[in-house]
Amino acid sequence: MNKNFKEAFEKTRIAGSIAAGALDEVSKIVKPGISTNEIDKTCYEYINDHKAYSAPLYYRGFPKSCCTSVNHVVCHGIPSEKILRDGDIMNVDVTALKEGWHGDTSRMFKVGEVSVKADKLIQTTYEAMMKAIKVVKDGVLLGDIGSAIQSHVESNGFSVVQDFCGHGIGQSFHQEPNVLHYGKKGTGEKIKSGMIFTIEPMINLGRFETKTLKDGWTAVTKDKTLSAQFEHTIGVTNEGYEIFTLSSDQIN
Ligand code: MF3
Ligand code: CO
Ligand code: CO
Repeated sequence: MNKNFKEAFEKTRIAGSIAAGALDEVSKIVKPGISTNEIDKTCYEYINDHKAYSAPLYYRGFPKSCCTSVNHVVCHGIPSEKILRDGDIMNVDVTALKEGWHGDTSRMFKVGEVSVKADKLIQTTYEAMMKAIKVVKDGVLLGDIGSAIQSHVESNGFSVVQDFCGHGIGQSFHQEPNVLHYGKKGTGEKIKSGMIFTIEPMINLGRFETKTLKDGWTAVTKDKTLSAQFEHTIGVTNEGYEIFTLSSDQIN
C-alpha cells in the first residue's frame, strides 16, 4: 500500500471509530419513551467531545447531526420530538468528520420487544452486509458485492432498495464509486487496494420501491412495510478488507 493510502486508512480509522463510538452511546439510551431528538443530541455531543464534526449537520441543508429512520422509514429520517414506542425498529446513521476524513456507519436498534418478523428483517440485513463485506478484496467487481447482498436478501423473502446506494468516502462525504446493493456477479467496476467506500444495504419487508416525503429527506417504503439498514465504512486491501467502523465491543 503506498503512502497516500496509508494516510487515508489511518485517518478513516480514527473518524470511523468516533462514528462507531457515537452509536455505542446511542445503544445505552434507546428505550420506549425517548425522542429521536435525544438520540441526535447524544450523537452531536459524543462527536463534538471527540473533536470531530457531525458531517450530516447542514449537509445539503440537512438540519440534524444524525439520521433516525423508524419502522417504514428507509433512510434519512430527521430527528424530531417523535417519541419511540415499544416494538419500534430504528436505524441511526452517523458520520464523523475528523481531520478532514469521514467515517460513516449505521446500525439498527430495537425499542423494547419487537416482532419476530422485524427481528428477522434486522438479522437478514446485518447478514447481507457482512456477506458483502467478506467478498471485498483487490480485484473483485462491484457486481460481486451487490450480488452477495441481493441473493441473501431475496432468498429470505425480502427486497433490496434500489434508490440509494453505498458510496466512496474520504475527504468528501459522498464520492465515486456508487456501490449498488444488487447486481450480477462478474459485472461492474473492479475495486482496487486502497479504495474506501461504504456498504449500506437498505432492505424492505415488502416491495423495494421508496418515496421521499415533502420534507425533501425522509425516504419511506411505498407500501409502508418495515425497512432495515446497516452500514460500515470499508477499506480494500490486497488480502481483503478493513472495517473502519466496528463498535468497540466488536474490536475487543
Ligand atoms: N449517512 C448517510 C449515508 O450513509 C447520508 C446522510 S446525508 C444526510 O450516506 F444529510 F441525510 F445526513
Ligand atoms: Co453512507
Ligand atoms: Co451513513
